[in-house]
Amino acid sequence: MAEKSKNRFYITTPIYYVNDIPHIGHAYTTIITDAICRYKKLTGNEVFFLTGTDEHGQKIEKRAEAKGIKPIELADQVVGRFKNLWKALNISYDYFIRTTQSSHEKGVQKIFQKLKDKGDIYKGVYEGYYCVSCENFISDDIPLEKEGNKICPDCGEQAGKVSEECYFFKLSAYQKPLLDHYKKNPHFIRPKSRMNEIKSFVEQGLKDLSITRTTVKWGIPVPDDPDHSIYVWFDALHNYLTGIGYDWNPELYNKFWPPDVHLIGKDILRFHAVFWPAFLMAGGFPLPGTVFGHGWWLKDKTKMSKSKGNVLDPHLILDTFGTDPLRYFLLREIPIGLDGNFSHEGFIHRVNSDLANDLGNLVQRTLTMIHKYFSGKIIEMDDENETDNKLKAEFITCKDKVTASYEEFAINKALEETWVYINLVNKYLADSEPWKLAKDESKKKRLARILFQAAAAIRTIAYFVYPVMPESADKIWALLGEEKSIPDQSFAELEFEDFKLGQKIQRTKPLFPRVELKDFLKEEEKKMDYLTFDEFKKMDLRVGEIIKAEKVEGTKKLIKMEVDIGGETRQMISGIADTYEADDLVGKKPIIIANLKPTIIRGIESQAMLLAAEMKDGSAIVPFFGDDVPTGSKVK
Ligand code: MSP
Repeated sequence: MAEKSKNRFYITTPIYYVNDIPHIGHAYTTIITDAICRYKKLTGNEVFFLTGTDEHGQKIEKRAEAKGIKPIELADQVVGRFKNLWKALNISYDYFIRTTQSSHEKGVQKIFQKLKDKGDIYKGVYEGYYCVSCENFISDDIPLEKEGNKICPDCGEQAGKVSEECYFFKLSAYQKPLLDHYKKNPHFIRPKSRMNEIKSFVEQGLKDLSITRTTVKWGIPVPDDPDHSIYVWFDALHNYLTGIGYDWNPELYNKFWPPDVHLIGKDILRFHAVFWPAFLMAGGFPLPGTVFGHGWWLKDKTKMSKSKGNVLDPHLILDTFGTDPLRYFLLREIPIGLDGNFSHEGFIHRVNSDLANDLGNLVQRTLTMIHKYFSGKIIEMDDENETDNKLKAEFITCKDKVTASYEEFAINKALEETWVYINLVNKYLADSEPWKLAKDESKKKRLARILFQAAAAIRTIAYFVYPVMPESADKIWALLGEEKSIPDQSFAELEFEDFKLGQKIQRTKPLFPRVELKDFLKEEEKKMDYLTFDEFKKMDLRVGEIIKAEKVEGTKKLIKMEVDIGGETRQMISGIADTYEADDLVGKKPIIIANLKPTIIRGIESQAMLLAAEMKDGSAIVPFFGDDVPTGSKVK
């Protein structure tokens, strides 16, 4: 394979699980990637940005079953949610890969077969513990809990025992090649601190990896042995190959492989920095340049995740405050490798102080004055004096620093440097007191020069923030009467002097309105969707008595029941077989919603619903009344 040309840049996000809807954590990974991508385009690279969804495996299988739908139906629904969010966040991806598409499935099977033929994949028996939440095997060193389970060290969920015939990947054979690769390529894992963590993990020795399951049906079948399905991580990691055309678009593939950067969260570093390069070495593929592990957004000091119930819905913020403030906040608030705590107060402070005050006011004040004093067009002005020249020189310093920071993916630093410059421009304006000069006709040309300098600086500032806030940056350029759009201007050739006399300046309203805590609360209230008491009263809640119960064949979770709701019987389907045996339910008295619109679940009509608590693992616990409560009693 010919060496990839230097100005081609291939970057990826992880592919997201479809067991749940997207949250701020997912948005974070994707926004970082988008900002890097936009920067790379400005610096003359031909870029390919891949994202997508991870749709196979036990986690998705279980979730779909709990919802009473097919895994592919669940995937289709959630993919729509991801795509909508990416649109709302202005994400400029080039391709969206789904692991259920046939080009991906075929590619994975082909590679599996290739490694098997080569002897890197062999058949054996796996005995050990498996965490469904992380889709990961638990190491032997983790001690057993009382109930015979292990606790997953990564997410804290229970990991059950599995013992089954499976195919193994000879990971042990790649210990030395991996260590050699890390040594020769110190940038392979970033930030640097993470390299040591991975190195010591590999140095402790690598065991062969089980890469197929017989108990999981929702996966890509092993070629010629379809009782086995391919382990979801083996499947998912190869999206980076199939998503760039491996085995179906050789032109695209040859143009961009290998990836320059895999952007991922630190929780999935081991998969990307150990398993993935080992798979690629086995398959004879050139390796990615860098695996970059970013930190987490925390809420109340723990990682935001759906299973902990502490996630923030990005739409809540987007709907009220717009796209760019959220993109700015997430990228400005924490350096890429570190964790950060998400707080409404933190968001409000950043938006009000950095966006509304520093940048927004600067743009609005300058443009308004150009309108007020020069009818929107500066056509003549004084020559530059020393202060004007200083401001221009500061642009060069800022540009160098911003470039260096973006090159390092230190986006927060690039923004920090830009804000140093914004504050210099603000100071320049404040010190020159244009509103005083405006009162003296003889100072008109000096006034013109000052506003011209400020506008020229604003033009470059908009350019610097473009990777993070593309919409606002483009808007500022249009307001300044620029004919080009930002992506048409190369970073290297950006000059202060490119702002020309006679450009027609538009008027503007505040670019970034100030935000207040009550705006958040109002939004939350809206999303809360309060029920009025009258609406609640419409619910016919009763004490039911289960008179018949049987498992719905072909499902893991569903139980069909007949329930007496006080002289009347209803048929009902519930996903509670994880926790209850059908026989044990007969005679039990749950709370029933008797007037819920009937629905069909797996071809059977369900005419009522029982109330249950949903546990973290998706199972259900039902509260029952004792015999002293008569069947059919109203519950209010
Ligand atoms: N499907 C796997 C990835 C396979 S890649 C071949 C997966 N999916 S995920 O949906 O659980 O997570 C995707 C990304 O979102 C990860 O990079 C993860 O780190 C990131 N985030 C999820 N929650 C997060 C926070 N609270 N904060 C920041 N990012 C986190 O893992």
